[in-house]
Amino acid sequence: MTDNALAGARVLLGVGGGIAAYKAADLVRRLRDAGAEVRVVMTANATRFVSALTFQALSGHAVRDSLWDESAEAAMGHIELARWASQVLVAPATVDIIARLAQGRADDLLATLCLATGAPVAIAPAMNQQMWAHPATQANLATLRQRGVRVFGPDSGGQACGEFGAGRLMEPHSLVAALAATQAPGDLAGWSVLVSAGPTYEDIDPVRFIGNRSSGRMGFAVAAAAAARGADVTLVAGPVALATPAGVRRIDVRGARQMHEAVLGLAGASDVYVAAAAVGDFRPDQVAPRKLKKASDATTLELRLVQNPDILADMAALTGRPFLVGFAAETERVEAHARDKLERKRLDLVAANEVGPGRGFEAEDNALLLLWPGGREALPRAGKRELAEALLDRIVQLRQGRQDGNPA
Ligand code: C5P
Repeated sequence: MTDNALAGARVLLGVGGGIAAYKAADLVRRLRDAGAEVRVVMTANATRFVSALTFQALSGHAVRDSLWDESAEAAMGHIELARWASQVLVAPATVDIIARLAQGRADDLLATLCLATGAPVAIAPAMNQQMWAHPATQANLATLRQRGVRVFGPDSGGQACGEFGAGRLMEPHSLVAALAATQAPGDLAGWSVLVSAGPTYEDIDPVRFIGNRSSGRMGFAVAAAAAARGADVTLVAGPVALATPAGVRRIDVRGARQMHEAVLGLAGASDVYVAAAAVGDFRPDQVAPRKLKKASDATTLELRLVQNPDILADMAALTGRPFLVGFAAETERVEAHARDKLERKRLDLVAANEVGPGRGFEAEDNALLLLWPGGREALPRAGKRELAEALLDRIVQLRQGRQDGNPA
């Protein structure tokens, strides 16, 4: 750990009520050694494991453990404390704190501060390995991650309860290093990234539409990763059931023409456009004003479809256009079709994948083939967030190459 890796950081350390609370004392000392100012908030149960006096002596500040402490509120109210923090770290984060944070509860000072702060929140879970593995805990963690909460650890090994497995608090020196890594400015700081995601719904009548199987997960993962790396991110989303990633501006649309209008309207303000939406190529030429009825004598219904605008092609035609990334979902001859798309649509990068039952659209993970003029990279099957990071790495490298005057 380099000295002063946390210089200027104002760390609000929330200590939960688990046996690992004793390690939080060492953590305070190490955070201060790394240059951070530290204020400690304990849950009521944490005070059963370690005394507030220990943390007061180590942090150099009075310790708070209640929402209802009048003298403490007079010195620095809980909202002021929430504003004061540049970083919140909950260590150890017990299974109960994780559940309360996932629910957005404000039933004690620590949970309230986590809701009231605008600062990034990180948690370092520590618990029995069975509790860690429980689907309820894992679902709560997934919710928190989705909201941008960072999860440090836990480590695996022997536990205070005598069991062995995942659930040990990450060691204090590793926690300080992990926190320091999040303070570095992201490599996309200063970039404006526009992402489109999800399907489009093309209305037939007031109750029916033509849609597709896109879940939106890939585009949402790209938006989340870009925001976490410091970009200013706008996400134009078709109809999907996904939470907005932390720090992302979201515009909801329904049909391809609405998506076209939203995206083209933001073209001039964007450095990069990642077109991860599965845009419907056709729409009914008219939307019936009333629900279409089954006629007793007809066994067929004819719908006349007209072509939608190609958003990506229209972006490509602009002068001073952003760096353009298209997705190519193919059922066969993936590389040939994707290379053709790259050239025909004059894109800077194409991310191609094979779609079919259980692959691509609705799956949690995926495999991508990245193609750009003069290059390719196969990204093996991985989670969509991991693929999003690798895609952004390639975009950074290609844009850098352009600025350096290399064809890349
Ligand atoms: O030609 P194809 O539809 O397979 O190209 C897929 C890529 O083009 C995706 O990045 C998709 O978001 C984009 N696209 C678009 N507008 C359309 C159709 C596709 O921007 N009307």
